[in-house]
Amino acid sequence: MPSASLRQLGLLLASAAALFGSASAFPYNTFDGPGFPACNDVAAVYNVTSVDEMVSIVKDAVAKGTPVRASGKGHMWYDTMCQDDPRTIIIRTENTNKISDFSLEPGAESGSVVIEAGVTFLQLAEYLHDNDASMGYTLVNWNISMAGAAAMGAHRSSIREESGVSAGVLSMDIINGNGEIVTVERDETSEDWLAASTSLGLLGVIARMKFKIYPDFKVFSQQKTLEEDEVLNGDIYGMIAPYATANFWWWPYLKKFHHRYYDEVPLTLSDQQGFQNTFSLTDLEAGAAKGILESGKYLATSNMLAETIFFGLWSKPNFKEKTNWKDISTWPVYGWNYDVLIGGLYPDQKPEWEHGMHGETLEIAFPITQANDMLKRVRKFFDDEWKDKGIIMTSTYRSGINIKFGKAYYDLLGQTTYNTSDGADWSKGAIMFDFPRFKPNGGDGKPFNPEFYPRLAKTLIGEFPCRPHWTKNTREIFKYGKKNIDPEHLARFKAVREKFDPNNLYKSVLAEIMGLYE
Ligand SMILES: Cc1cc2nc3c(=O)[nH]c(=O)nc-3n(C[C@H](O)[C@H](O)[C@H](O)COP(=O)(O)OP(=O)(O)OC[C@H]3O[C@@H](n4cnc5c(N)ncnc54)[C@H](O)[C@@H]3O)c2cc1C
Ligand SMILES: *[C@@H]1O[C@H](CO)[C@@H](O)[C@H](O)[C@H]1NC(C)=O
Ligand SMILES: *[C@@H]1O[C@H](CO)[C@@H](O)[C@H](O)[C@H]1NC(C)=O
Ligand SMILES: *[C@@H]1O[C@H](CO)[C@@H](O)[C@H](O)[C@H]1NC(C)=O
Repeated sequence: MPSASLRQLGLLLASAAALFGSASAFPYNTFDGPGFPACNDVAAVYNVTSVDEMVSIVKDAVAKGTPVRASGKGHMWYDTMCQDDPRTIIIRTENTNKISDFSLEPGAESGSVVIEAGVTFLQLAEYLHDNDASMGYTLVNWNISMAGAAAMGAHRSSIREESGVSAGVLSMDIINGNGEIVTVERDETSEDWLAASTSLGLLGVIARMKFKIYPDFKVFSQQKTLEEDEVLNGDIYGMIAPYATANFWWWPYLKKFHHRYYDEVPLTLSDQQGFQNTFSLTDLEAGAAKGILESGKYLATSNMLAETIFFGLWSKPNFKEKTNWKDISTWPVYGWNYDVLIGGLYPDQKPEWEHGMHGETLEIAFPITQANDMLKRVRKFFDDEWKDKGIIMTSTYRSGINIKFGKAYYDLLGQTTYNTSDGADWSKGAIMFDFPRFKPNGGDGKPFNPEFYPRLAKTLIGEFPCRPHWTKNTREIFKYGKKNIDPEHLARFKAVREKFDPNNLYKSVLAEIMGLYE
C-alpha cells in the first residue's frame, strides 16, 4: 500500500478509536500509582497551566459530550473519581497554581488570598508564612490540592475550631457544565453555596478559591498514652473539645490510645521550630517495616509484632527541628502552626508509598454524642473475631487507627452537617473512625483477613447514623452508606447540580451511587 493511504488508514483508525473510545483508554491512578486506579478508564489527561485553558477544554468537551473530571494530586483511595466511561478526560490542576490578592491588614484578625485550583496546602503555607500569615486550622495534609480537599469535604481534627477546608473558603469560581465561570460566595442562606461547600466535583471544576487567612502563630503539640478503658469509658468530648486540634490513635492489640493535642502559644514562648512527619521513611526503616508487614498477610503474630513496634515509635515525637533536622525527643513540641500541625517530608526521605508500601482504608463519621458507644462496638467486633474465629486483629498501620473529630458545619453533603432526617444530634460535632491497614504486595495483594474490614463497616453503618468520608471508601461501602444520607439534602443538592451541569458532564461513580443522576 502506498504510504499516503497507510497514513489515511492510521487517521481513520485513530478517529474510530476516539469515536468508540476503547482502544486508547487507560487507568488514571491515585497517589499509590499503578494498580490503584482513581478512574478505571480515561481517554486523556490534560496538565493544564491556566484557568483559561481549563475553560477551553470544558467548552470543547461540552460540544462533544465528553465526560470531564478535575483532579488535583490523586490523594484518594478508590476508583470512585470518574464514571465508568472510557471517553472521560481528566483536567489535572497541579500546574495551575498561582497565588494572588494577598490581603491581611496589620492588626486585623483575618484577611484573604486567592488561590488557583492546583495550589497545595504546603505551597500556600510556605507563601503565607513568608508573609507572616497562616491558614489557621482549615487544613488537611501537605501534598494535596486545596480545591480537591474542599470539593470532597476534607477536614482536620477539631471540635473547637472550624477545621473543614471548605470552612475557610470565602468564594469559589466554578467552571460549570456549560464552560462558564460562576462565582459562588459563602452565604448559608444560598442553596448554591450549601451545595458548592461540599460539591463532590459535581457542579464543575473549582478553578479558584478566595480563602480566609490569619496572622501567623505558633503552637505546641503534646501527646499522652491512655489505657483503652480511659477512652472507651471516658469523657471523649472533654478530652478533645478544649483544644484547637486534637485526635486519638488507637492500638487495638495493645489496648492503648495515643491522645494528641495542639494549641496556640505566645510567639516568644520557645525558639524551637518543630516539623512533623507522618508519612516519610528512610530506606532502612521502610525495609524493616515491609518485611514484617508482608509476612503479616499470613501470620497474625507478625501483625502483633508490627503493632507493638509502631506503638513504640509513635509514642515518641514524630518531629524534627527544622533548622538542623535533628530528632526532637521530648513532648511538648513547639513551632510554627503549619510545620507542627502538618509538616511534610524530611530531606532525603520518601513517603511510604514511594517505598512500595501501600494501604487500604475506610472512614466513617458518627455524632460525637455516640462516640463511646461506637468505640465499644468496634472493641466488641475485635473481641468477637477472636471468640468466634480465633483470629487476633491488630492495627497494621504506622500510626494506628486514626480517630478524628469535626465541629458541626452546615452544608448539604458535608460529613459534619446537622439538622438531618436521621434525628441524630450532630450539633455537638462528629467523631471519625479512619481504619487504614497495610496492603501487601505479595499473593493476591489482599490484607490479612480482608473481609473483616467491610464487615465492620457494614455493621457500623447498619447500627449507627454514620456517614462515609467521600474519598476513603469503596463503592460497596458507599452503596451501604447511602441510606444514612438525608434524602432531602440529596434532593436539594441534586437541584443545584442540575442547574450547574445540565448535561451531566461531571458525573462520578460516587454520585451515581448517591442517586444524584436518577
Ligand atoms: C496521605 C493522605 C492523607 C490524607 N489526610 C486527610 C485528612 O487528614 N483529612 C481528610 O479529610 N482527608 C484526608 N485525605 C483525603 C484527601 O484530603 C482527599 O481525598 C482530597 O480530595 C484529595 O485532594 P487531591 O487534590 O489529591 O484530589 P484528587 O484525589 O485528585 O481528587 C479527589 C476528588 O476531588 C475532585 N476534584 C479534585 N480537584 C477538583 C477541582 N479543582 N474541582 C472539582 N473537583 C475536584 C476529583 O474529581 C475527585 O473526585 C488524605 C489523603 C491522603 C492520600
Ligand atoms: C502530567 O503530569 C504528570 C505529573 O508530572 C505526568 O506524570 C504526566 O505524564 C503528565 N501528562 C501529560 C499528558 O503530559
Ligand atoms: C508532591 O507530589 C508530587 C507528585 O504529584 C511529587 O512528585 C512530589 O515529590 C511531592 N512533594 C512533596 C514535598 O511531598
Ligand atoms: C436547624 O434546625 C433548627 C430547629 O428546627 C433551626 O432553628 C435552625 O435554623 C436550623 N439550622 C440550620 C442551619 O438549618
